Amino acid sequence: MTTMPQTAIIGATGFLGRNFLSGYRKLRPDTVGTSRSGKEGLIDLDLLSADIRPLKLAGCKEALIFSSMCGMLACEQDQVLSHRVNVEGTLHLVRQLAAAGIKPVFFSSEIVFDGMSGGYDERALCRPCNAYGRQKVEAEDGIKQICAGGNYLIVRLSKIFSLIKGDGTLLDEMASILHRGGVVQAAADQKIAPTLVTDLVQVVAMLQMNNVTGVIHVSSSEVWSRYELALAMAAQMKVDPAMVKKISLDDLKEPYARPKDPSMDTSKLKSVIGYDFTSTRQCIANVAANWEGRSVCPC
Ligand SMILES: NC(=O)c1ccc[n+]([C@@H]2O[C@H](COP(=O)([O-])OP(=O)(O)OC[C@H]3O[C@@H](n4cnc5c(N)ncnc54)[C@H](OP(=O)(O)O)[C@@H]3O)[C@@H](O)[C@H]2O)c1
Repeated sequence: MTTMPQTAIIGATGFLGRNFLSGYRKLRPDTVGTSRSGKEGLIDLDLLSADIRPLKLAGCKEALIFSSMCGMLACEQDQVLSHRVNVEGTLHLVRQLAAAGIKPVFFSSEIVFDGMSGGYDERALCRPCNAYGRQKVEAEDGIKQICAGGNYLIVRLSKIFSLIKGDGTLLDEMASILHRGGVVQAAADQKIAPTLVTDLVQVVAMLQMNNVTGVIHVSSSEVWSRYELALAMAAQMKVDPAMVKKISLDDLKEPYARPKDPSMDTSKLKSVIGYDFTSTRQCIANVAANWEGRSVCPC
């Protein structure tokens, strides 16, 4: 294990980027962040016209790439712009990083899989069923070509959430609806391995310190249906389970396909670094407590 390399957080204004910037600055105060809108304390970088010279000056050795258009609907509806950002812009950036000797760490997704079986390992065939997933596969393939020497890391993620009240991530959204007396519609045929963002930050830092390269799946190994999660949240909040309506993903009639069980095999992660992810039940208890105005022990 080496020390933590100086790292640039590309896209430090989004959900993951913000969490990584604050977590990494505790380990390395010289961690650099970028935004595309001239935010104070961050370096300007737009994937549509990326220029990494300011990052080189800052002496970064690795760059975590979070910048992207990531809504599945947005990618589907504007396939030209999302391709320019998510594929062409990302690869233009990666070429510059590689030429400067900076290792790219790209954040991909379980949505590269078709979701017919679940349990996909890193060698499983990518068969995306929507534009977001196709763009992730194209970016992954491009990175492997550009970094032919192997100095890259592709981290495929499941659904990431936090414990912060009101941030609208997976569990918080369910709790807020139940808290105001609403009905949570939850698909029983949609499988999720919910992963806590603070766990993710620690795992990626450990992967960097161990100089792991190639493709790796990072998620909790607990696989739940969205319906099971909502029922568990209702039980924790002592809300009538009838406030959770069981539906099928197909009932949502989304204008794009979504894989039903893209859950990933994480054996490789376990063999590379041992890490105990926070249990989903503990997270449900923490988020429920946010909305009940009482606190439980922090995890
Ligand atoms: N969150 C998850 O559960 C999850 C799961 C799987 C994979 N991922 C992947 O992880 C990455 C980060 O996800 P996230 O949830 O943090 O997304 P997010 O909150 O939507 O953040 C996206 C970031 O990309 C930036 N961005 C958008 N267009 C850009 C452009 N043209 N040039 C430069 N930056 C641009 C945004 O900047 P502005 O603030 O200026 O808009 C923001 O900082 C994405 O690649 C996503 O696909 C996330």
